[in-house]
Amino acid sequence: MDHFSYKNGEMHAEDVPLSRIATEVGTPVYVYSTATLQRHFRVFSDAFSGLNALVCFAVKANSNQAVLSTLAREGAGADVVSVGELERALRAGIPADRIVFSGVGKKPSEMRRALEAGIKQFNVESEPELEALDLVAGKMGVIAPVSLRVNPDVDAKTHHKIATGKSENKFGIAWDHAPEVYNKIKELPNVRATGVDVHIGSQLTDLAPFKLAFEKVVGLVKSLRSAGHDIEHIDLGGGLGIPYDPDAETPPHPLAYGDMIKSVLGDLPCSIILEPGRLIAGNAGILLSEMLYVKQGEDRLFYIVDAAMNDLLRPAMYEAFHHISPVTEPGDNAQNAQVSADFVGPVCETGDTFAKARKTVPMSPGDLVAFKSAGAYGAVMASTYNSRELVPEVLVKGAEYAVVRARPSLDDMIGLDSVPDWLSD
Ligand code: LLP
Repeated sequence: MDHFSYKNGEMHAEDVPLSRIATEVGTPVYVYSTATLQRHFRVFSDAFSGLNALVCFAVKANSNQAVLSTLAREGAGADVVSVGELERALRAGIPADRIVFSGVGKKPSEMRRALEAGIKQFNVESEPELEALDLVAGKMGVIAPVSLRVNPDVDAKTHHKIATGKSENKFGIAWDHAPEVYNKIKELPNVRATGVDVHIGSQLTDLAPFKLAFEKVVGLVKSLRSAGHDIEHIDLGGGLGIPYDPDAETPPHPLAYGDMIKSVLGDLPCSIILEPGRLIAGNAGILLSEMLYVKQGEDRLFYIVDAAMNDLLRPAMYEAFHHISPVTEPGDNAQNAQVSADFVGPVCETGDTFAKARKTVPMSPGDLVAFKSAGAYGAVMASTYNSRELVPEVLVKGAEYAVVRARPSLDDMIGLDSVPDWLSD
């Protein structure tokens, strides 16, 4: 459920008409709903009631400071993958002891900063990384808490670019090698194993691959514990999908996901960590754009909008589906006059296509459209390709809104470059 709906013939974000944001801030612009962020966080957290669970929002999905602060107030922890995300989480008020650091390539400087801050754990993905962490922690005179991210070799049955749990993927420590690496942790003086970590992919719409992976992990935890390793918690990663296209996919409800996890854990005396990103932020955001031109091609209709692949990369990168809804509520006449159109942006690439042969009500230049479910992996993946200004972001709360990342000026953008002396005259 989200809070983008038609009221008085026009789509609103909570109680703010989208046309007001378009007029006052300009398009393209991301618009987030506070109520939806809160609701998703609460529904997800509630699914684990009765367990000792820490929900660490995957900051990579949406790292805006206002979004992170909203979630921090809900009690969220953070899953970060760079020192940049770590600083963002800390500055948003997420306590260090609720932050886990994931990713295959942490630099020693990043490890140092995270140790200094006192994060909950490092999710370590290789032996060389473990050795580097041991060295850094040793120099600082501290012990680094570690979970090894294991690769359970499970097919997540999702888009190949966002599947991470097969042996051919770069992620995690090979399944059969994991017990050996836990033994190695015991030998290293400055790291301590506190948990086991797994993440098999993103936008999973079926519980079966999760269950398979979690059962393997629980088996591993039991054998590690009986071998004398002090495994206190299990990090089950993120990955639960959302219904981008309810006609095509019906991902499980968080409650079903929570129940499955409870049954897999049984009476294992471990706390759990969860790292949802998309499920919290995806449906809490839209990308608002204006129709520039309607172009009749040789054999198709093109709707050219002012948002492009640099603002929302997912369709170009993963063939991802986003609903494209008119901001003005279509009447019965418009509904009956549906057309088929390719929605494209202004970037000079054929890949700058949001949808092909999409059934839609007829639209005209100047009409506003909302790309739905764009709150996760939208703004964070935006760039200035084609020297387009980085897309701004707005957060709505009830009848109020605030610009939470302003559109930079062309001077701001061009001013990041500098011209060396030898070219100055
Ligand atoms: N934990 C780890 C270690 C991850 O790598 C990820 C996502 C998550 C948690 C959060 O997964 P989520 O709950 O959001 O599915 N840009 C792609 C998605 C990349 C996901 C990368 N890792 C997209 O737009 O679909």
